[in-house]
Amino acid sequence: MGAINAVANLAVEGDIAILSINSPPVNALSQAVRAGITEGMKQAVDNAAVKAVVLICEGKTFIAGADITEFGKPPQGPSLFEVEDSIENSTKPVVAAIHGTALGGGLEVALCCHYRVAVPSAKCGLPEVHLGLLPGAGGTQRLPRIVGPEAALDMVTSGKHVPAKWAQSVGLVDEIVPEGELRASAIAFAKKVLAENRPLKKVRDLNDKVAAARAKPEIFSEFRKANARKFRGFLAPEYNIRCIEAAVNQPFDEGIKTERKLFMELMNGTQSAAQRYVFFAERQVWKIPDVPEDTPTLPVKKVGVIGAGTMGGGISMNFANVGIPVTIVETKQEALDRGFKTIRGNYERSTKSGKLTMADVDQRMSLLTPSLKLEDLADCDLVIEAIFENLDVKQEVFGKLDQIVKQGAILATNTSALDINQIATAVKRPEAVIGLHFFSPANVMRLLEVVRAKHTSKPVIATSMQLAKKIGKIAALVGVCPGFVGNRILYARSVQANAMLMEGAMPWDIDRVIYDFGLPMGPFAMSDLAGLDLGWIKEKSSSSTIREVLCEQDRRGQKTGKGFYDYDENRNPKPSPVTEQIIRDFATKSGNQQRKISDEEILERCVFAQINEGAKILEEGIAIRPSDIDIVWINGYGWPVYRGGPMFYADTVGLKTVVAKLKEYGPKMGKDFTISPLLEKMAAEGKRFQDMK
Ligand code: 3HC
Repeated sequence: MGAINAVANLAVEGDIAILSINSPPVNALSQAVRAGITEGMKQAVDNAAVKAVVLICEGKTFIAGADITEFGKPPQGPSLFEVEDSIENSTKPVVAAIHGTALGGGLEVALCCHYRVAVPSAKCGLPEVHLGLLPGAGGTQRLPRIVGPEAALDMVTSGKHVPAKWAQSVGLVDEIVPEGELRASAIAFAKKVLAENRPLKKVRDLNDKVAAARAKPEIFSEFRKANARKFRGFLAPEYNIRCIEAAVNQPFDEGIKTERKLFMELMNGTQSAAQRYVFFAERQVWKIPDVPEDTPTLPVKKVGVIGAGTMGGGISMNFANVGIPVTIVETKQEALDRGFKTIRGNYERSTKSGKLTMADVDQRMSLLTPSLKLEDLADCDLVIEAIFENLDVKQEVFGKLDQIVKQGAILATNTSALDINQIATAVKRPEAVIGLHFFSPANVMRLLEVVRAKHTSKPVIATSMQLAKKIGKIAALVGVCPGFVGNRILYARSVQANAMLMEGAMPWDIDRVIYDFGLPMGPFAMSDLAGLDLGWIKEKSSSSTIREVLCEQDRRGQKTGKGFYDYDENRNPKPSPVTEQIIRDFATKSGNQQRKISDEEILERCVFAQINEGAKILEEGIAIRPSDIDIVWINGYGWPVYRGGPMFYADTVGLKTVVAKLKEYGPKMGKDFTISPLLEKMAAEGKRFQDMK
């Protein structure tokens, strides 16, 4: 007894063996962990003094799944199935002792144990769907045998982590034990099992719940129908559903074969590769090479927001949600009142869905203080300016803040368009100035572009990133350039989209291609939603763009019932003959020959232009790494996760093809279009963005 290998240990206390795993950070099922468990189980079973086994983990969590870093590499034994067999076929009862999260392969291993005990804070889940996979070690066959097919469908397709208490209510966990006393309680539980002489029970042998569902095929058809929108484009949810169907309709061993086959299909496909890449990209994005983790941060206990409009209000809510008080400054009482009313309205809507109680709403509102004086921001640790986009006005505000706000505070701007280096010239402490570019609606959208200006200090960057995490955002650190990362790439796409209108494609043709590719909407539907009159001034309108003409005809987007599209009372879009005529007239006037544009050309010109812009962004050092660009586009613009972001997608197409196509489109791409030298070089060298260091 004692150490089995570097990550597993077997101790014997009385007649109970304690097999413990210690493989930070999350006790994933690496080769060493798999070997440790199988060998540990063998020793425990072979030891005549041992009557039962407790499987427990050190550190912050029970096994959190298969080791994703091993995926795609040659498999090394023992396999996960061998691990599971060593437990399930043990002649001595095995008790899983769960804390933290028992996820994926971790929960599958626990399901092979004869009993499961957990502390109240523990959670269980099968999150493989988020990696474009399904639980491939029996999870789809064992889980429904305990929780029933309906709950299993929900768990495997949502990947949700269910709390221990719920798990106990459905029999997934046998006993909840006191927090902090897991080891002793699990041993006591094992002793109880022995004392009561309970028969060895295997989850695979439970049949009541799956048998009962056999007569109800509508469980599956209804589930598919109810979730069609949510699952659009993704393969993994459907494959997970098929596995649960197999659990219901096939004997256990056959079901396992179905699960294996579908798992391998997903594992070898592009979608899972993309989703696994995104998993690591989401963790990578927080790492900033020249701002190490131990960079000192500044405590942010009080925030000031200037502007109570849509952005300012949404931004403020983020902080109130995590208990940080916010002073919101406006120039006029009416604007302040309107802003506060909107915020309260937003919170109250959350009570309808049960996310918040009215007491929560009152508590959050009590953290927001209205003010008409910048002086009230003097003792804030962070001030975020969220007023309209005008450099002079912003500089004036920053000049005043410099006089008012205490030294050491962060002075942030939410600009999406202006040069932050220029804004910073208005203060004597440019090291305190940073961009915090929230996306609308700021209380909902997950993305935050943290914009590093020329003089921004490292503690200011580190604090902003930490704070972003605290308020539940995913933050990408970017540099200053027009549009930063997200909007700059958006602009590259809209240049192509608009050019194609002139060449013969209609807005709905382009939107359909982009939607079918997997984005929530195309560029023209998006413009209609945002309002075509953003930045449009009636008096200065000169009918020189399609957009201007649409605004002049009061076609300002969804809010006026018409824009690029015509909308019915439920805001459903319909192609508009008026818009079509405006476009045709424009094309004729500018001497454009209209032609039929293929869906392939629409997609390639839009997306390859984005990839090209992404490459330029990398070249200029505006983004740290290609995967950060992907994070921005996934979280800020709804790029489909299963395509991994524009830069990952470029790799799947092949950079050579991207460059060749861009050259083929040549002058059609526009007179200002140039191919990124970095993209060309990488294509010539046969490289991929995901290998870029
Ligand atoms: N394999 C390898 N590394 C993993 C991992 C896994 N399954 N899960 C987490 N890690 C790594 C992360 O990459 C990160 O590494 P880093 O510090 O170098 O960036 C580190 O562990 C810590 O992870 P987090 O920053 O995410 O830590 P948190 O405490 O915030 O979250 C967690 C912990 C909830 C366990 C979260 O990491 C998580 O959700 N992990 C993935 C769980 C999962 O998807 N499991 C299923 C795997 S697939 C599978 O099991 C297939 C099977 O069915 C056959």
